[in-house]
Amino acid sequence: MRVYLIGFMGSGKSTAGKKLANKLGLNFFDLDDLIEQESKLSIRAYFDTYGEIKFRELENKILKKTFLLENVLISTGGGTPCFFDNIQEINQKGISVYLKADISLIMSRLKGETNQRPLIKGKSDDDLRNYLSDLLSERKKIYEKAHIITYAKSLNINKLSEQIKSFAKE
Ligand code: S3P
Repeated sequence: MRVYLIGFMGSGKSTAGKKLANKLGLNFFDLDDLIEQESKLSIRAYFDTYGEIKFRELENKILKKTFLLENVLISTGGGTPCFFDNIQEINQKGISVYLKADISLIMSRLKGETNQRPLIKGKSDDDLRNYLSDLLSERKKIYEKAHIITYAKSLNINKLSEQIKSFAKE
């Protein structure tokens, strides 16, 4: 089984992904971590040095490598499904789960992180809310192509793992 957790930054993909992987008996990988290992740079430093276009190319390359892995759960970056034909490939090669979070949850989680995250670097609270809600409404259309949609606020790992198992049997 190969499971991809997708969703906006701040929706809790890594935390949920680790628990879910554990429950399903899968090995956990975080795509951002794999990118950092390959490039030997932090995501932030990679963006600063090479810019977003190069980042998306590397992200696509590393995503493709994960299609060779078995028995894994991969937590993707917030933008991963939204570039190239990544969402179609994810859906072909694995079971995709969209961890859906609303703007207030996202805002509350990202507010204190405007220095660490490249896409929201240096934004004031007002700018941040506008930026995030525009980006979320754009990306939502892609996230919603996932096989399974689950809600970050009422996340139930046991239920979700059962849902994934029955999807895998179909
Ligand atoms: C990004 C989200 C980040 C990381 C990069 C770009 C995005 O991952 O890949 O900063 O485009 O939303 P997380 O969603 O894991 O924070």
